[in-house]
Amino acid sequence: MRYFLGLLFLFVQSLPSMAQKRPNVGEEIKFAQVQAEQMLLEIKGITGSPEKVSPRTIENGKLKMVISRDWTSGFFPGVLWYLYDYTQDPKWLKEAQSFTAKLEKEQFNTGTHDLGFMIYCSFGNGYRLTKDEAYKDVIIQAAKSLSTRFNPTTGVIRSWDHNRDKWEYPVIIDNMMNLELLFEATRFTGDSSFYKIAVKHADITLKNHFRPDYSSFHVVDYSPADGSVRSRVTHQGYADESAWARGQAWGLYGYIICYRETKDPRYLQQAKNIAGFILNHPNLPKDLVPYWDYNDPGIPNTSRDASAAAITASALYELAGYTDSTPYVKKADAILSSLSRSYKSPLRGNSGFILQHSTGHRPANSEIDVPINYADYYYVEALLRSKKVK
Ligand code: GLY
Repeated sequence: MRYFLGLLFLFVQSLPSMAQKRPNVGEEIKFAQVQAEQMLLEIKGITGSPEKVSPRTIENGKLKMVISRDWTSGFFPGVLWYLYDYTQDPKWLKEAQSFTAKLEKEQFNTGTHDLGFMIYCSFGNGYRLTKDEAYKDVIIQAAKSLSTRFNPTTGVIRSWDHNRDKWEYPVIIDNMMNLELLFEATRFTGDSSFYKIAVKHADITLKNHFRPDYSSFHVVDYSPADGSVRSRVTHQGYADESAWARGQAWGLYGYIICYRETKDPRYLQQAKNIAGFILNHPNLPKDLVPYWDYNDPGIPNTSRDASAAAITASALYELAGYTDSTPYVKKADAILSSLSRSYKSPLRGNSGFILQHSTGHRPANSEIDVPINYADYYYVEALLRSKKVK
């Protein structure tokens, strides 16, 4: 009996620590609010470049603001929308509306595939939370602009217009993230052409971007004449055959979106396969925050990418809702726990970014081991999603 009571005592004692493994969303959002306040303060102190509307990273020790055309311009407005979502504080609503409005003209931008990131994270969240009809119109127009980059011969949306001497029709794995905007536009308008473009893009990407181990190349270059594959490379990673960490996270998140929108089991299977590649990779550190490329021979003496971890955590929470949830929730919780424990900025530090230790474009020697807006966006999104799963 005494032995049994002893065991019971130990079990009861361990309950709080077991429970603590779930993210403390309230505390983390409190921290995120202090950081956002700091960032707003620093933005107000910047004068003389009104065209720079959104904070992206820290460069040479200073807050770097970018113009609305920058692919990352939607993430800070998105963070503000999530803060409003969680707190319902009108202060965040006002700021989110104000930073979102600064991106309005990008709805007509046909020069980039990144409209999903720019418009969906800002106006998309804005519409979800306010049902403002004007936001809906911006989303529909952005979907029209993005659709102009689809070519029926290749069956995919063209991602980049640069490096024309190297590539004829480059498509990057990141492009999967921009399909969400198209699915939403079909829901808003009843026009299935957006949906069809998204599905075709996802199918062709599934066929051409992945290796047998379910890792993906970064760029597939197509021939616009006949849709054949000209080359497969990894522009932002260590080598063409390597697995660039953020690319794997974009692919995972992208196929989960496609499953949510279509219920096509092939997309769910692809997402599970990508999750398997990421979570079982021998070079994934114990804290589940990957190095910037799974195959960098410099591991462990190279930079991490906290953004890839945040995107993965958010994706896994959604994936958990479509399948046997426990293993994915546990992994996502563990990622958030690592990020909140060891990857957060000092309080009010880093100009108000929430996380640090992300890697933007290492081969270009750009944004290495820095705070970056998309790490913050997916971290806060993941925190909010963590509340919705058991
Ligand atoms: N979409 C560009 C990047 O992930 O760096």
